[in-house]
Amino acid sequence: MSVILTRGRVPKTPHTEFYSEPDVLALEEIHGVTGFSGDWSRKYHYRKYPTQQVSEPKRLPLDLRPQTMAPHQPLQPWHIRTGRLKAHGDHISGRVPLVYGPTTLMSAARFEKSCPAARFFRNGDGHELWFVQQGSGLIASEYGVLPFRKGHYVNIPKGTTYRVELESEDCALLIVESRMPIQFAPHYLNASGQAHLTSPVVETETGLPEFRPARDEDGEFRVWTKHGGGLVTELFLGHHPFDLIGWEGALYPYTFHTDDHHPVVRRIHTAPPARQTFQSGTAPHNGFSICTFKGQLEGWHPRDVPAPYAHFNVDSDEVMFFSNTSYGARKGLVEPGSFTFHPGSLPHSPHGMAAKRSFAERGKLSDYLAIMLDTFYEPLEVAKQALPLADKDYPTSWNRDTQGISAA
Ligand SMILES: [Fe+2]
Repeated sequence: MSVILTRGRVPKTPHTEFYSEPDVLALEEIHGVTGFSGDWSRKYHYRKYPTQQVSEPKRLPLDLRPQTMAPHQPLQPWHIRTGRLKAHGDHISGRVPLVYGPTTLMSAARFEKSCPAARFFRNGDGHELWFVQQGSGLIASEYGVLPFRKGHYVNIPKGTTYRVELESEDCALLIVESRMPIQFAPHYLNASGQAHLTSPVVETETGLPEFRPARDEDGEFRVWTKHGGGLVTELFLGHHPFDLIGWEGALYPYTFHTDDHHPVVRRIHTAPPARQTFQSGTAPHNGFSICTFKGQLEGWHPRDVPAPYAHFNVDSDEVMFFSNTSYGARKGLVEPGSFTFHPGSLPHSPHGMAAKRSFAERGKLSDYLAIMLDTFYEPLEVAKQALPLADKDYPTSWNRDTQGISAA
């Protein structure tokens, strides 16, 4: 994130003597990424360092690691119906791994519980980006309180200590984890960090955490920390982790609503990079891009074909999460929460006569909502945990009449 914030009280000059109250020295901490070269925030703890564990850390039986299928499945396109997940657990235990690679993990979670008041989560494996498919709630972190609702992206930097409070009965998330920071696409931003005037995103159009007074409290506080690709260790603190008197910097959780992705359109069909919202890693050499397929004005050329062409980008594995079923190219097949995975070695296309049917959409506003992730030079595998949600007929679905209009 490029917008630098200051919240609460911080010294004018970094790393200088500063007091929480007379005779109580505030204790400084840097939360940074990419060595000491990337985004960072400077935090001032009331009186105790976050290192002050009061008992031995404990490995929990909870195992969030994606399981490898054995034997490996044949090369095929996948359709995983995450909308059929039953609500269970909280936003940690409710995670079901879907696909994974060396630096990327995607999971779905449909959960019904808030985190207990004295228990917190810290992802030490990956930066998290959520897409909220259903539900609403609050993320309480050391940086403040951040509300989220259906349609939001929620960006939580690796290492943030937070808990989730649900406001709805349950909540459904698509969760992307990357070992590398997930940010607005750098080519949207100028050297000062402002979005270019032609960008589909506006860097200030984000939801920011509302800072709360320091919790200068002793007690029993547990921090579940994810590490090692999905192991979870419980850390025990004798003081509340939200004990900041202030912080400043560019690394903090924020939200961005898909309603605020402003599509850039042209007279004929536009390829996905025009829909990009976020990026992780150094495109196009590694990491991934995330595109928001938000309803937009379709091409208005008199002979435009609004549906996409058959395609594959052989250096990208592609996943698509369908928030609703309005995406014409897949009508009759996808359901809310459908997650398709197309390995880079396989072309994929609209179903049936979707191309011909899409002529009716020329120049009209569409209302689909789908999230796409394309890796760069990173192959993904389907996790064994996703198998119960898989549509076994998907590989041959292009050869079936899924829409009542045969392609043949
Ligand atoms: Fe595609």
